[in-house]
Amino acid sequence: MNIGIIGSGKMGGGLAKFWAKNGHNLMLSYSRDIEKLKSQAQSIAPGVRVGTPAEAVEFADVVLLSVPWAAVPDALQAAGSLEGKILFSCVNALTPDMSGMAVGTTTSGAEEIAKLASGAMVVEALPIFAEVLYSPSRKFGEQDATVFYCGDDAQAKQTVAELLREIEVEPIDAGSFTPCFHALVDTIVALFSH
Ligand SMILES: NC(=O)c1ccc[n+]([C@@H]2O[C@H](COP(=O)([O-])OP(=O)(O)OC[C@H]3O[C@@H](n4cnc5c(N)ncnc54)[C@H](OP(=O)(O)O)[C@@H]3O)[C@@H](O)[C@H]2O)c1
Repeated sequence: MNIGIIGSGKMGGGLAKFWAKNGHNLMLSYSRDIEKLKSQAQSIAPGVRVGTPAEAVEFADVVLLSVPWAAVPDALQAAGSLEGKILFSCVNALTPDMSGMAVGTTTSGAEEIAKLASGAMVVEALPIFAEVLYSPSRKFGEQDATVFYCGDDAQAKQTVAELLREIEVEPIDAGSFTPCFHALVDTIVALFSH
């Protein structure tokens, strides 16, 4: 599968390594330092490409959005039309100092992203903390880490669940978007980040 990555930092770069190992074609995009992005692409695997967000969308079957919440509008504007694309978001709608929710508790980051990414099939998942992603194993004792995901398109969710299995976690379908679910998940993340 072709995966375009918008925001190749701790999460985007870490996920890219797993997916490259599993044989996917990757294009990284959206950096304030294009030379850093190019060298990161080389360090992930031979053949990993670098492009603009719009090129990554054009290239991709699945687009990963992995930027800080504050950068979401700019990143999605640079991405252009996402019509018909699976948009896998691991974005948490946190304030820049991570002290709280940037969107309050009556909506969620994913729902706001879905509004901006008109026509995309948005699936939100929180693929664990970056530290766990870079650990030798995603197991807690004998137990695989579980990762909740949600979205309104069944096929898109199935595709994202497969990509989550490739990072060696157990994906759990949390249903369709509900503000309640996201508020809960985002609150848990905010609590853990202190
Ligand atoms: N870290 C975690 O444990 C974790 C876990 C679950 C979810 N998340 C969520 O995943 C998303 C990405 O987190 P991360 O930890 O991967 O962040 P990060 O390491 O800071 O990566 C952000 C990426 O966005 C790029 N970027 C481009 N323009 C930017 C701008 N104007 N401002 C900020 N970044 C810009 C950065 O590229 P350059 O620096 O090269 O410009 C970088 O590649 C966030 O929404 C976060 O809440 C994080």
